[in-house]
Amino acid sequence: MTETSPAETSEAPAHLNGSAAPRLLKGLVLAGGKGSRLRPLTATGAKQLVPVANKPVLFYALDQLVSAGITEIGIVTGDTGDQVRAAVGDGSAFGARVTYLPQDAPRGLAHAVITARDYLGDDPFCMFLADNFLQQGIDDHARAFAETRSAARILLKRVDDPSALGVAILNESGQVTRLVEKPKTPISDLAIVGVYFFGPEIHDITPTLQPSGRGELEITDAIQGLIDAGHVVDSSIIGDEWVDTGKKDDMLEANRVVLGTIHRDVKGTVDIESIIVGDVIVEAGASIVGSTVRGPAIIGAGARVEHAYVGPFTAIGERCIIRGCEIEHSIVMSDSTIRDIDSRIFDSLIGKEVVIERTMLKPVAVRFMLGDHAHVGIS
Ligand code: TTP
Repeated sequence: MTETSPAETSEAPAHLNGSAAPRLLKGLVLAGGKGSRLRPLTATGAKQLVPVANKPVLFYALDQLVSAGITEIGIVTGDTGDQVRAAVGDGSAFGARVTYLPQDAPRGLAHAVITARDYLGDDPFCMFLADNFLQQGIDDHARAFAETRSAARILLKRVDDPSALGVAILNESGQVTRLVEKPKTPISDLAIVGVYFFGPEIHDITPTLQPSGRGELEITDAIQGLIDAGHVVDSSIIGDEWVDTGKKDDMLEANRVVLGTIHRDVKGTVDIESIIVGDVIVEAGASIVGSTVRGPAIIGAGARVEHAYVGPFTAIGERCIIRGCEIEHSIVMSDSTIRDIDSRIFDSLIGKEVVIERTMLKPVAVRFMLGDHAHVGIS
């Protein structure tokens, strides 16, 4: 569903900040977890580092926090913490100061808040799930929260089918009165987005939580605890695109959204026999030989596209080789090779250092979801 309306923002006079200065927020980015829905990619890599338009999805969260003026950022990490550290470093590349907060096990989003308790102190904070992708960022919502004294503000998105999501029920002022996980009856179409704002009151609730049916400390239970304790939980309904990139098709959807905003920028080489149509980024050091690239698409640095067709909404990672094949609406991560495949590759998420090559004739159509280092021979 596409909504282009500006964010609707609830205002609650009882807890408005009045003339006091806006609160200064910290960031809490959750980059641990199991990533089971993105296996096998997550068997070897952090799902938050899967690229959207050739940039790790986690980087969009960091950029959006910094854009909202939130530069003191804690990142909760799990088994893939070393990879996250290697990619983000001290945060200076983003204009942030990053502190790493290892979580002993993926025990739930509210457990991540407990893990970060000392780091957060009593500062208000924005908790951003690193696999959630928001098209237009969080500036307005961060400002709205900083200017009040409410205990929490959650972001909501109207969806057609909320049955697999957490939803919120609001009162007439837009304050949250109840949260419901995976509603069986159509009680609300306002899905809870993975970006939350909390004041220090949340730390009174998290120690009282019990593991849910799936054995995790749930952030929805913590927010419900705030409401039950009489605190104000505000909401913002976002009008722009939101993608929870937990699964392959969600990654492709986020890729589609970002590529839909790019502009033509050709820094690599394109030979005279090649045709570049529409908004295509060819990064420096990439080469296009005897091929057609139809945008929006991005070809990463050092990649070679030879006698191939790269179609709309495709991101080819750095140093990939795409030769003698057709590919569309797909993500290919860095250092992968695809060559001499007759069928068009479509709707595919292909990991790092994957090799797909023809071994015998045939397939009419193929769809892939391949982990890092996979090697596929197609008959
Ligand atoms: P989820 O997508 O809810 O959980 P998950 O990563 O375990 O994935 P899956 O359901 O496919 O197994 O997590 C949302 C984000 O929060 C994601 O970036 C991982 C992170 N996270 C933590 O950092 N700690 C945790 O304990 C959990 C559950 C998630």
